[in-house]
Amino acid sequence: MFSVITLVFLRYLLLFTIAVSTPSAAACESEGAPWRELYPRDSSLDSWVNTENVIAVDRLLANIAPGGQNAGGATPGTVIASPSRAHPNYYYQCKILSPNEPVKYIAAKNILGIRDAAITTSSLVSIYASDPSSPLASQILDIMSAYTSLSYNIQHTTNPSGSFGDLSGLGEPKFNVDGTPFTGPWGRPQRDGLALRALTLMQYLNAHNNTHPSLWTPADGQGQYKNLYTASMPPNSVIKADLEYVSHNWQSPGFDLWEEVNGMHFFTAMVQLRALREGTIVATLFGDPAAAAFYQQQADALSSFIAGFWDNSKGHLIETMNSPRSGLDCGILLGALHGTGTDYTPNEGVYPPWSDEVLVTLLAFVTDQRARFPINSAAARSSDPLAGVGVGRYPEDVYDGDGTSTGNPWFLCTASVSEVLYRTAAHAEQRAAFAVTQRNLPFWQAVLPGTFSGARTVPSSDAAFHPAVQRLKDVGDGFLGVVRAHATAQGDLSEEFDGVTGFERGAANLTWSYGAFVDAVRGRGELPAVS
Ligand code: NOJ
Ligand code: NOJ
Repeated sequence: MFSVITLVFLRYLLLFTIAVSTPSAAACESEGAPWRELYPRDSSLDSWVNTENVIAVDRLLANIAPGGQNAGGATPGTVIASPSRAHPNYYYQCKILSPNEPVKYIAAKNILGIRDAAITTSSLVSIYASDPSSPLASQILDIMSAYTSLSYNIQHTTNPSGSFGDLSGLGEPKFNVDGTPFTGPWGRPQRDGLALRALTLMQYLNAHNNTHPSLWTPADGQGQYKNLYTASMPPNSVIKADLEYVSHNWQSPGFDLWEEVNGMHFFTAMVQLRALREGTIVATLFGDPAAAAFYQQQADALSSFIAGFWDNSKGHLIETMNSPRSGLDCGILLGALHGTGTDYTPNEGVYPPWSDEVLVTLLAFVTDQRARFPINSAAARSSDPLAGVGVGRYPEDVYDGDGTSTGNPWFLCTASVSEVLYRTAAHAEQRAAFAVTQRNLPFWQAVLPGTFSGARTVPSSDAAFHPAVQRLKDVGDGFLGVVRAHATAQGDLSEEFDGVTGFERGAANLTWSYGAFVDAVRGRGELPAVS
């Protein structure tokens, strides 16, 4: 959270320094580079997680300009969703000239996804905040500076969702990598990406201010961070424009995070709520009390609305209101994670990862997914209802990574199960207690079979406390073990892995897969060392 002490900010603008980085992933590796084992398959999960974490950050950076090897030619600040050029074509055409020549990329117009970009740059800001003196720190600041400028330009680019004048253009989900509008048919508008962008930029503002406190001059909330926030209306700063859009449009339907269904969605609402809550704090700090009051009022209304995603007859949350689908959806886990602050805000939102409703939804969703894919059959035969399995987007999914046939497990969804469990464990540790309630009882019974028969508080002095917290971590590790099993030997993560063969499918080197993995690993690292 922003404190007045940390907000003793700005004088020099380090936000716009430019440097060049040299991350090392190659998009066409499978076609050109020799196959190599980076880690032995029989190593412990801990050592694999550590190795894969380094690879994941490297691959993530490879997909971001400036500096990213797969993002050459893209406007600085661009996060490409994936370097995949065919089946599906997410971005580049890639040509191997000869075995000894470096891979050459020919830019084809494709995507800079607002949601994927905001989520993955947030992972980078978290890395920066946790170690501002790391060798990556200056590269991350360069990226964030460019991302801020690019976000401003994109906000002002008229596109098929609309224009900047009435802010309607801010709902556009994706742009070409040269920053021009993508004009093909698409599920638009999507009202989550810009809320995530505001969240990432507020996180960046806070992290940057923590390391550069002299840059803040209280009287000049109009000062060096003015590109990020100024009180002026019509909005002329990136965060303010996004907050204005969210506060005025959260009641309108839009397409979901999977870009398929028009309606009101849990994921979208959760990230919008967090943006408005944190926006209230930022508006106050920047001398914009009327906006702060409005954002707070809208956040309160949105908060009541979000309570309506609990379906009492189903006994779990639903992703989309008035939908014929079951409602079970990885978007619920992602909404709980991205709608809840981790490193700088105590803001819990309506349904944080450890809430009764999210935990029982996780159990119901995992139970569905374990029975759905042949690769999960060994786990499905086990007596452990929480044995690690591959988890996809939602039960009715038919997107196979390129066209439509049957859905598959996704890396980012499987990792999100781990992260929810790690965060639940960390929360119980922080509070030195957790509560078994009538609503979450099935979840805790699955965590420790035979231990809980009804509602009760479990303080850290209770014999069940430590075994339960340890089990949360072990179950989370079980799901990360599934990520491990389906990653390539080089540590590549695509979008999906085949539900029958287990091999990777869909967009290669999906930036978001790496971001979700890195986030889960951070959550795991926040747990106390296991004795
Ligand atoms: C169809 C998928 O269902 C959707 O989620 C995806 O965003 C687009 N294709 C593009 O890959
Ligand atoms: C398809 C996913 O469904 C969507 O959520 C994502 O934004 C795009 N791919 C880009 O990765």
